[in-house]
Amino acid sequence: MASRITVLVSGRGSNLAALLGAQARDALGGGRIVRVVANRPQAGGLGIAAGSGVPTRVVDHHDFAQRDDFDVALADAVAADAPDLVVLAGFMRVLGPGFIERFAGRMLNIHPSLLPAFPGLHTHRRALAEGVRVHGCTVHFVTADVDVGPIVAQAAVPVHDDDDETSLAARVLAAEHVLLPHAVAWYCLGRLAIVGKRVHLTGDRLPRDAALFCPDA
Ligand code: GRF
Repeated sequence: MASRITVLVSGRGSNLAALLGAQARDALGGGRIVRVVANRPQAGGLGIAAGSGVPTRVVDHHDFAQRDDFDVALADAVAADAPDLVVLAGFMRVLGPGFIERFAGRMLNIHPSLLPAFPGLHTHRRALAEGVRVHGCTVHFVTADVDVGPIVAQAAVPVHDDDDETSLAARVLAAEHVLLPHAVAWYCLGRLAIVGKRVHLTGDRLPRDAALFCPDA
């Protein structure tokens, strides 16, 4: 049976579009996006979802005085679709235990850096400031601590001498659009095994370490 996927977004939604594209090409491991939930009514991802016929829902964090109440309302909204997997695709609110405990082990996030380098915000600016020559993105399981859950896959890109935040962000984003659908497909195919802090990719004819993945792009 196809894995039911709920995608959480806050903004533009280009990673959501990449997931929908993979689904349309039958390259999402049989996964099916059943709902897109946003915490901001103006999130561009809502329009992308609607354009693909995917039902949407908004749980606006501004409607909640307490963070915990938002977490519970969001968790209830997500649970209503009984998803097998929750994907944070540019979801920019920190989720509390009230949410995370309900979806532990079945929630993935895409983060625009090679974790554990540059958790948090402004990753491209900070990578440029530190002078790193390699930057990238990470898909990881979500745990209570922000940006530190078990790493499923990473994609690396070079940092060029003439890069600015915009050019570097664009190069990383292109890698995100390749990486995230792969990681989601692996999850849907039941190929990810969490062993301590590490994630193993199982069932490959040619065994490959899931923690290092460089797209051809
Ligand atoms: C991506 O860079 C993602 O890694 C980060 O926020 C951005 C969201 O972009 N968390 P989009 O909404 O998927 O276009």
